Amino acid sequence: DSTVESSAAPLLDKLVSDRIAGKLAAQDPTLWGSEAEAEAAIRLSWTTLYQTSRPLIGEIEALRTDLRSEGIDRIVLAGMGGSSLAPEVITGTENVALTVLDTTDAGQVADALAGDLDRTMLVVSSKSGTTVETDSHRRIFTEAFTEAGIDAASRIVVVTDPGSALAELGENEGYRKVFLADPNVGGRYSALTAFGLVPAGLAGADVARLLDQAAGVADALSADSADNPALRLAAALGSAHADGAEKVVLADTGSGIAGFGDWAEQLIAESTGKQGTGLLPVVVEDAGAPGFADAGQDATPVAIGELLGEATIAVAGPLGAQFLLWETAVAVAGRLLGIDPFDQPDVEAAKKAARSLLDDPGSLSETGSPSAVFGS
Ligand code: PA5
Repeated sequence: DSTVESSAAPLLDKLVSDRIAGKLAAQDPTLWGSEAEAEAAIRLSWTTLYQTSRPLIGEIEALRTDLRSEGIDRIVLAGMGGSSLAPEVITGTENVALTVLDTTDAGQVADALAGDLDRTMLVVSSKSGTTVETDSHRRIFTEAFTEAGIDAASRIVVVTDPGSALAELGENEGYRKVFLADPNVGGRYSALTAFGLVPAGLAGADVARLLDQAAGVADALSADSADNPALRLAAALGSAHADGAEKVVLADTGSGIAGFGDWAEQLIAESTGKQGTGLLPVVVEDAGAPGFADAGQDATPVAIGELLGEATIAVAGPLGAQFLLWETAVAVAGRLLGIDPFDQPDVEAAKKAARSLLDDPGSLSETGSPSAVFGS
């Protein structure tokens, strides 16, 4: 419904009068209030991905067609968090098969290896290019392809940022294709970049439609109006924080978008959780809600309810629109919380710690063994 809890109302008024939505969509460097923070503007390029990612669609479709003609129709994605959650939601919503390797769980790896390798393409997806778990999965699959008499390089597609060690490796090893993404778009805002679109599109999802869906909501999200659902959601999150809440509950009351809560959870947690502050999102799956098989994603309104105690924020729209809506809301909420919603100092510290366990932490060379990660 249209109720915004009273403590959120003044925040909403302020966001509207400061014309935050329009500035965000225009990637205005004064958005964050000071010249010193102007560099944050460069990281707003996710706001127009529904346009800038268009050229990627043809590349994905061409590769998918080639792969299908070679009998390759099983896509395995090695990637984590910002490099796996979006394609998982996209393919889940469309009921398209995608095998995801996002942990070092031995059972998950064994299951992925048990599939038909003759029909398999591995997508290695890593923004930093050095995430140790993802690199371990690449090595394991390289070995498995080779043992099966398959040219491994022809079965690996890379998605990464320009200049990463993985981009270099992909070129040097002659991998099937290296997709480079905009380095200014952070992992959790990257659903509509190559990170979301390549694995999902190769698996068979309609990624052009996803961009259309985001484009369809762009005007509404850039409106400096109290009806803007992203501003309403941002004000609700901001007021929760101002009122001392540490957790917010995301209760999917029948969105028809499987797994969306996991994606939104990471977006909120990692964008707001830093400097000893933040909002911890808790996702509640409603087992009674209609699944995506019952309700077409275009037809079903998304009701994200029970947010902030009595307040209900209902946001309607298909998946592509939801990505942009929530990214916009969480970015604006970051402004209300007084933090940078685009950095992730703790994730980076954890990545460094993981790599420091390896013999050669800076390298993706083919020497060394995955056992450094999985244990021997
Ligand atoms: O959002 C994040 O920073 C993390 O979830 C990363 O996306 C995740 O660790 C994967 O990182 P990368 O894409 O660099 O391999």
